[in-house]
Amino acid sequence: MQNLINFTKSTETLKSHKTDLIVCGLYKNEKFTNSFGKNLDDAISIESFKGDYKKKILVYGDNLKRILIIGLGKKKNATNLRFREIGAAVASYANQLSVKNISLDSKSLKLDKNEFAGSLYEGIVLGNYQFLDYKTMDSKPNSLKKVTVLGTCDKKTLEASAVIANSVNFAKDLGNHPANILTPTYLANESKRISKAKNMKCTIFDVSKFEKMGLGSFYGVARGAKEPAKMIIVEYNGGSKSDKPIALIGKGLTFDTGGISLKPGARMDEMKFDMCGSATVMGVMNAVSILQPKVNILFAIGSTENMPGSDAQRPGDIVTAYNGKTIEVLNTDAEGRLVLADVLSYVNKNYKPKFMIDFATLTGAVLVALGHRATGLMGNDEKLIGKIKKSSEATDEKVWELPLWPEYSKDIKGKYADIQNLGKAGAGTITAGAFLKEFVGDTPWCHLDIAGTAWGPTEPSYQPKVGATGVAVRLIYHLLNN
Ligand code: BES
Ligand code: ZN
Ligand code: MG
Repeated sequence: MQNLINFTKSTETLKSHKTDLIVCGLYKNEKFTNSFGKNLDDAISIESFKGDYKKKILVYGDNLKRILIIGLGKKKNATNLRFREIGAAVASYANQLSVKNISLDSKSLKLDKNEFAGSLYEGIVLGNYQFLDYKTMDSKPNSLKKVTVLGTCDKKTLEASAVIANSVNFAKDLGNHPANILTPTYLANESKRISKAKNMKCTIFDVSKFEKMGLGSFYGVARGAKEPAKMIIVEYNGGSKSDKPIALIGKGLTFDTGGISLKPGARMDEMKFDMCGSATVMGVMNAVSILQPKVNILFAIGSTENMPGSDAQRPGDIVTAYNGKTIEVLNTDAEGRLVLADVLSYVNKNYKPKFMIDFATLTGAVLVALGHRATGLMGNDEKLIGKIKKSSEATDEKVWELPLWPEYSKDIKGKYADIQNLGKAGAGTITAGAFLKEFVGDTPWCHLDIAGTAWGPTEPSYQPKVGATGVAVRLIYHLLNN
C-alpha cells in the first residue's frame, strides 16, 4: 500500500508544536542541545545515552511532550544507508507506540543536508510498508499516517523521496498479489492507468496478435495459458523529440508452473513472484509519471502465465523469434528468456533505443551464485555496466557482474535450430544472459537477474519481513536522474 505521500513542513518551534511524537537525532558523543526540560536531561544521563547508532530513548518532556531521540552513530560513519535504516526504525517505533503523527526535528536530525534527509524519508516510507489487502482477521494496520518536518528542509527533495519510496512499495504490491488476481490483464490495466499521466502513451498487444506480429517465441510460452498474455508498451516523452529513448524491459510471468517441464510442488507458490521484473519496470513507470524527468523512456513488459496443458508447447518444439532466429525449446521451464527474446528484439527494432536494461527473475542459478544479497548483472557494454554499478553503490541496491564472454554463446548453440533455451555446461545464469544477448543486436544492453533479490532478502532493515522487495526501482531511478 502506498503511504505517507504527503508531508507537511512547519515553522513552529519545538516547544509550541503539538504532535504525538517528536523525533530528534543525536550523533555519537555530541551534546543534545534541544532542551525540553530537566526530565530529558536526566533521562539522557541516567540511560547514559551517547547517540550510538540506532539506539533510542523515549522521554516525556514538559507540556505533554513525548520525544524520541535516536542515535545517529559516529558522524564520520554517516551514510545514506544508515539514514534509510534510521528512517525505518523510526517508522517501526512509531507504529509500536500506535502513534499517528510524528514530527521530525530538522536541526538535530540534520535535515538541512539534502541527501541524508531524502534517505531518512525514504526509510520511513519503506519501513511503513504493509501488505494487508487480503487480511480480514488479526491484522494490525500501521498507525503512522503523517510526517511533519519542523524547521529547515528542502521540500522538493523529500517529496521526490516519498514518490520513489512509494513506487518501490507499489512494485512490492504488484509482486505480492496472488496470480489469481494479478494476471497479465491486471498489469495491462495498471499500465493504462499510470499512462494517463502527461507525456505517456500505452499500447497493449493481446496474445491473439502475437503470431501475426512475429512474436513466435513469446507465443510458444503463452499458448498453454487460458489467461490471455499481453505485451505492454508504454512510451514516455519527457525529453526532446530527437532523443533516442532508454528502454526498460521486464519479465512478467504472473505464474510459472514450468509448463510441461513441470516444477516440483514444494514452494511453487513463490512463482507468483515471477513477474517481479515487470513490477520493477512499473515501479519506475509510476515514479516517472509523477516526477516527469526530462528524458525519453520506453517501458516494455512481456506478461503471461507458463502453464501445462493440451495446448502447451512441448520440449523439443522449435519456435521463431521476432528477429528471425530459431530456438529449440529443450525445457519449457526456461520460459523467461523465450518471452524476453521477443520483447527485446521488438523494442530494439521498433524504437532503436539508446540502451536497453532488462529485469527478470530468470534463473534459480543466480541464487546459488549470489544468494539473496545481490542481483546478477551482465551486459554487452562496459560503459552501461559501469553506470549501473555507480547507481547500485549510490542506492545500496547490490549488483554483481558475471562475465558474458563470447565462449558462453557456444553453450547455447542448437542441434536442430540456431540456438537452444538451455545451457550445456553449468553457469546457468550466464548462459541465460548469453541467450538474451542474441536478441539485442548492437544496442548497449544490460540484464539484471533478480531471482535472488526480488523476494527473500530481509536486510537492510528497511526491507520487508516477507514478500516482494521492489528491487532496483531506486537504482534505476537514480540512473535516469544522472
Ligand atoms: N522463474 C524461474 C527462475 C526462478 C527459480 C526464480 C527459482 C526464482 C526462484 C525460471 O523461469 C526457471 O524456471 N528457470 C529454470 C531454468 C532452467 C530450466 C534452465 C531454473 O532456474 O531452474
Ligand atoms: Zn520463470
Ligand atoms: Mg521457468
